Order: sequence, then structure tokens, then C-alpha cells
Amino acid sequence: VKPSRSFASDNNAGVHPEILKAIESANEGHVVAYGSDRYTNQAVAKFKEVFGKEIEVFFVFNGTAANVLSLGAMIQSYEAVICSSYAHLNLDECGAPEKFTGCKLLLVPTADGKITVEGIKKHCHGFGEQHHVQPKVISITQVTELGTVYSDQEVKVISKFAHENEMYLHMDGARIANAAVSLGLGLKEATKDLGVDVLSFGGTKNGLLFGEAVVFFNSKLAKDFLFKRKQSMQLASKMRFISAQFEAILSNDLWLKNAAHSNAMAEILYKEIQKVEGVKIPRKTQANSVFAQLPKKVITALQKKYFFYVWDEDTSEVRWMTSFDTQENDIHDFVKALRAVLK
Ligand SMILES: Cc1ncc(COP(=O)(O)O)c(C=O)c1O
Repeated sequence: VKPSRSFASDNNAGVHPEILKAIESANEGHVVAYGSDRYTNQAVAKFKEVFGKEIEVFFVFNGTAANVLSLGAMIQSYEAVICSSYAHLNLDECGAPEKFTGCKLLLVPTADGKITVEGIKKHCHGFGEQHHVQPKVISITQVTELGTVYSDQEVKVISKFAHENEMYLHMDGARIANAAVSLGLGLKEATKDLGVDVLSFGGTKNGLLFGEAVVFFNSKLAKDFLFKRKQSMQLASKMRFISAQFEAILSNDLWLKNAAHSNAMAEILYKEIQKVEGVKIPRKTQANSVFAQLPKKVITALQKKYFFYVWDEDTSEVRWMTSFDTQENDIHDFVKALRAVLK
């Protein structure tokens, strides 16, 4: 029997008890559906408390929708999105961004998951030229798909470049809480203050049952978003249950506690596997994922005991992730199992 908690993904964790409590508290009587309810008003007010009054925020079911709808609010189908070749948008959304926005993704190769102005510039040509797609959005992922974190300065440089070239900056913040903790910044300081125009604000990976938010810092872009969300089948009728979760995660620093715990657990795992002979660590851990290179046979043997994904078959690289409910004992048991299969 495999242990009840593994290191496959923060998506594999359950729901934080405080979030379940919030859902239960919202489960009282009838309220108006589709977001015209007090729970949604309170959640929106929380977002405004955190990010400032002038923002607009909308809840959707999942992260792919948050990304696709964020892009859809900024772009026409003849325009293009510049993103990393590792972007979730590119690799893990089954072509949803292309299907629903009709836009081309222009990929920037990267070794560490982060893109830079130097790489972005290679796609910045053909402006005003009728034969070329028109680059309009730069999308960055924070924390990146390779577990790295853009520094505040790195984000600022990209947003400045975007705005100087009449482009927008989107941030896929599926793990923005982990990134903010890693940077020692607040949520607003890690996003809006760095020049992000639209943020996909992740909830699920930080302890929600489900639900993500699209946050418009450039509120002009939110025009017509109500219609776009509904037409894209992302308007929850029982919205109160998404809203109640967001109010809870933004209250009493729950977002921060969960992300800080998750990051701290990853740091322990990272340190522990450094002591294990036969494990190569290709990347520094900056948030809640740890990457390791292991012989294929070892991976297969360890997967018999623990469920986790191979990140890259070619390089024999695996990704281990911690979550809000990872316990130190889980790590020690896992490292023990790793040592055993390496023998
Ligand atoms: C970087 C990133 N963006 C977005 C998502 C959201 O995906 P989903 O549509 O599965 O909620 C994920 C989930 O794994 C992710 O890792």
C-alpha cells in the first residue's frame, strides 16, 4: 500500500480544513445564484483589500480557464502571445488557448523556465505588417513550470518592455502564493506593483477544493468579461461556494501560511536529497517543487512505492512537489524509500 500523501503534485492534496469549513458555512439557506450573493461580494471586497479598490476580479472553475479567459480579454485572434516553451499554456492546456482565443503562441526557449526580454525580442517584429501576427501579450508563469521564481526586478523589466511596446503582461499565477512567499513579498507587491496587467490567481494548489480567479489590474481590460466568462461556460451558478473559499484563503493570512509551509517542506526535501548519493539535482528549489535526476531503474522502483511523475524522460528527471499538508515525516519516509531503492 502506498502512503496516503505523496510528492506527485500539490494538486494531489486534499482541501484545507479551513476551506472546507468556509464551504460548510456558506451552505445555509438560499442565496441568489451566479455571483449576486453576499459571499461573492465579501470575496471581491477581500481581493480589493489585498490588491486595491480599482481592480476587477472574476471567479472561474479552473486554472486553464483563468489563463485562457485572461488572454481572451487582452487579445484579438490576429494577435499573438509570447510565452516560454515550457508554459502550461503551451504544454498542458490541450490547445485551449489556441482554440478559444484563435491566437498563435510564440515560444521562447528557456533553460530554467523563465523568459527574458532578450528572448521575447526575437518575436517582436512585423508590427503593423499585415502578413505577421501582432505580438500583444507576454505571459509569464510564477512560480514557473520548472519550479523557479522570477525576481521582482525580472518581472519589472518584462512589464516595462511590454508596455513600451504596447503589449500587456499576463501572469499565470497558479502558484503565486508560493512565489510571493519565496520572494518575501505580499500578493500585491508580487504582481500589480510589478506591472502585471492581468493575473490568473491560483487557489486550488494552495488548498482550495476548486476555483481560480482572474484579477484585472488594468481594469479597462475587464470590459465585457462577464459575457466572455459566461460564453466560455465558466460562470458558476452556485458561485457562493467558490467565493467563500477565496474569502477564507485571503483571510488570516491562510494563503501565506499554506504556501510558506509548502515551500518550507520543499526546502527540507531538497536538503535531505542532497545528502543522498546517486541523486543529481539539476535546479535549486525556490518554491514547492524539487527536481531530481535518477537512473531510470531507480525511478521505476520508487514509483512502486510512491506515486510521482517523470518530468523529462530524456534526461531522466523527476519532479517532486510538496503541499500545504506535507508533513516532515512524509519527507523522511520518502527519503528512506529513495535510499533503499538506490542500494
Ligand atoms: C503553471 C500552471 N498553470 C495553470 C494550471 C491550472 O491548471 P488546471 O486547469 O488544471 O486548474 C496549472 C495546473 O497544474 C499549472 O501548473
